[in-house]
Amino acid sequence: MRNTILLFLFFIIITQIISQDIRSLLLTKWNNIQYQCTNYGCSSSTTVLALNLRACVIACLVNTNCRTLTFDQSNNQCELFVDIPSQYGNLITQANIITMTAIDDRQLSAPMTTSTTTSTYSPTTTTLLSTTSSSSSTTTTTTTTMFTCISSLTGATMLLNLTNSPSQSGYIQYSYNYIAVTTSTRLTLSFRMDLDNWSLDTLSVKRIGTSTELLTNGDFDSGTMSGWLSCNPNNATNFGFVQYNLIYSQSGYYFWKDASTGAVDYLYQYFSSVVGVNYTISFYLRGDGGLPNSANVYIGF
Ligand SMILES: *[C@@H]1O[C@H](CO)[C@@H](O)[C@H](O)[C@H]1NC(C)=O
Ligand SMILES: *[C@@H]1O[C@H](CO)[C@@H](O)[C@H](O)[C@H]1NC(C)=O
Ligand SMILES: *[C@@H]1O[C@H](CO)[C@@H](O)[C@H](O)[C@H]1NC(C)=O
Ligand SMILES: *[C@@H]1O[C@H](CO)[C@@H](O)[C@H](O)[C@H]1NC(C)=O
Repeated sequence: MRNTILLFLFFIIITQIISQDIRSLLLTKWNNIQYQCTNYGCSSSTTVLALNLRACVIACLVNTNCRTLTFDQSNNQCELFVDIPSQYGNLITQANIITMTAIDDRQLSAPMTTSTTTSTYSPTTTTLLSTTSSSSSTTTTTTTTMFTCISSLTGATMLLNLTNSPSQSGYIQYSYNYIAVTTSTRLTLSFRMDLDNWSLDTLSVKRIGTSTELLTNGDFDSGTMSGWLSCNPNNATNFGFVQYNLIYSQSGYYFWKDASTGAVDYLYQYFSSVVGVNYTISFYLRGDGGLPNSANVYIGF
């Protein structure tokens, strides 16, 4: 098999009421390969919907029995298996299917050791997944170490990708649904517009069926960056800022004005979320049409 084999090393901390164990899953990845269980001895699998491969990997890590997963990129079906292919079943060629399987499943003892990680998602980032189990509930938190403002975008879901968008006479509202995969979700916006400006206002994140706003200062009407973080990793000029202008804001007095020139800049905020719950993300964006330009919106951890 000539496919590139990529190794993923994740740590799961499972804090149980009595004992504390760290589960380390080293997964091998095959592209366009499907694991099929051909033996009657196979355990039954679990199928879940996952927004992307990373969400599927997390579903496997959180399920302590999971040792193999297949992710179908054509319909986002994520299938979790207890077995590993060398025990039962076959690996067959199948377009759009990614199979990942455990090649090592050790119980490591605390404290956590530092390990080298090779990952398609982000080579410099180690993802630590903690699951705290109690008799009635399970919560999952993800901590990204060696965090830089853009490293965590690798593996995030892109909600919007505008390139060289023409001039708009007014704001356009964008709205998306997202199923959270962690207890802290990051919404990131990235802009570039040489010569002219993007205007961004009235961002909102709500759990479907509720009216509680989960973003802080989503309309910038504190007049400050309160709640928001930003970065300019490529040293672009005309970096975005909170602007006061009654006419140009979509609501209230302030909005985010961004004319990042030469490269993109980033604006982001974390909101607390419940794993598996459906959220609505919306915002208003207006582009003046200066070229080149881009506007990208990502959601992930
Ligand atoms: C956004 O779309 C353009 C084509 O319109 C594409 O060239 C670019 O790679 C996309 N950006 C990302 C980050 O995928
Ligand atoms: C847009 O930003 C530029 C700086 O890049 C500034 O000179 C210009 O006045 C801005 N235009 C508007 C309409 O705010
Ligand atoms: C941005 O500027 C800083 C400080 O001058 C420099 O260290 C860094 O290498 C620059 N980054 C890029 C991508 O040019
Ligand atoms: C999330 O909620 C929206 C609005 O109710 C719905 O259309 C969508 O199908 C839901 N997504 C999932 C994956 O359940």
